[in-house]
Amino acid sequence: VPGAMAAERALAMATCTAPVNIAVIKYWGKRDTDLILPINSSLSVTLHQDQLKTTTTAAASRDFKEDRLWLNGAEVDMGHPRVQACLREVRRLARKRRGGSEDAATLSLLSYKVHIASENNFPTAAGLASSAAGYACLVSALARLYGVEDELSEVARRGSGSACRSMWGGFVQWQRGERPDGTDSLAHQVAPETHWPELRVLVLVVSGQKKPVASTVGMQTSVETSPLLKHRAEVVVPERLAQMMRHIRERDFEGFGQLAMRDSNQFHATCLDTFPPIFYLNDISRHIIALAHRYNAHHGHTKVAYTFDAGPNAVIFALADTVDEFVEVVRHSFPPATNGDQFVRGLPVGSAALPQELVAAVVTEPVPGAIQYILHTKPGPGPQLVDDPSQHLLGADGLPQR
Ligand code: DP6
Repeated sequence: VPGAMAAERALAMATCTAPVNIAVIKYWGKRDTDLILPINSSLSVTLHQDQLKTTTTAAASRDFKEDRLWLNGAEVDMGHPRVQACLREVRRLARKRRGGSEDAATLSLLSYKVHIASENNFPTAAGLASSAAGYACLVSALARLYGVEDELSEVARRGSGSACRSMWGGFVQWQRGERPDGTDSLAHQVAPETHWPELRVLVLVVSGQKKPVASTVGMQTSVETSPLLKHRAEVVVPERLAQMMRHIRERDFEGFGQLAMRDSNQFHATCLDTFPPIFYLNDISRHIIALAHRYNAHHGHTKVAYTFDAGPNAVIFALADTVDEFVEVVRHSFPPATNGDQFVRGLPVGSAALPQELVAAVVTEPVPGAIQYILHTKPGPGPQLVDDPSQHLLGADGLPQR
């Protein structure tokens, strides 16, 4: 740009992608709602971005007149306190790092307005938790923009609690921490995604979902009213975390699966124990739970394990050699309505012939059309930098490209 100071850049831009994660020891309840500090630690599996990811471009320019944000192509209010908290915290780290001194380029960048565009590669309507990937991606892109290389799970946590776990790949623990300022409430990797190569994930997207009670609101009512949640946080979770770490370390699917199911069930029990009660599972969710138990009972051990977050979709864990058969069981139990060919998405699934006695024992009450589709995925890595400039979601004018 003619006449501009050498240290100034007219437009700086960075694009990152970030993954979704699914907890096997659930986070539910805050001890500090502003800093998003949880009442218990939690543990999750990061899902692969080939199937589920958020992409975010962050740009700063002295030509921008105001901060602007686009989600899936539609402009939304940038004033959301959690978005503002993430922006403020990344900028604070950038200033701290530069020591307020020589790096004039970063300093001027920090004074510019930002434009941010974010997109999911999966339908938001599917009810798959997108806030974790969304905030992890926002923080990753902003950090890149400002050249921040610090540990960022503490910042992502300010966007959404579960987002701090999406800052790592594989198996991730979010430690509740003890300090009131939250500086020790961080996520760290327990094992990389390569640790358990046979582990697979099936997301069963349930049809006709109502918008559930938002987790932020729901969990606060639980903290205020559920004695079971208090017991869970103080007694049950600390024991379970240690057990779950051991099952993961030993790649013990029996132990891992049983504990994941029990913890999901206890989370939903605390929702029922909340007053007034909250219901995230529906009849289809309960059909899936019963089906998983019949299937495991038929085989005489834990072949599949379910877990449910704040909605009716099931996430199923299985080892690779179980996927073809279990998908066929789901197809028999929930015969697809119209999209027979699009019923299974994501990683390839082979065909399987079900033995007659398995069908008789496991497929007891088929519910046609109850499951919209199945997404087949596996554990994956943490946030990634997108190097290719043609992949930026914002153009040279700072506006959405597509
Ligand atoms: C049921 O992270 O969405 O998915 O911190 O208020 O943004 P906020 O809540 P959020 O809660 C997730 C709850 C859960 C369990 C989990 O992911 O651990």
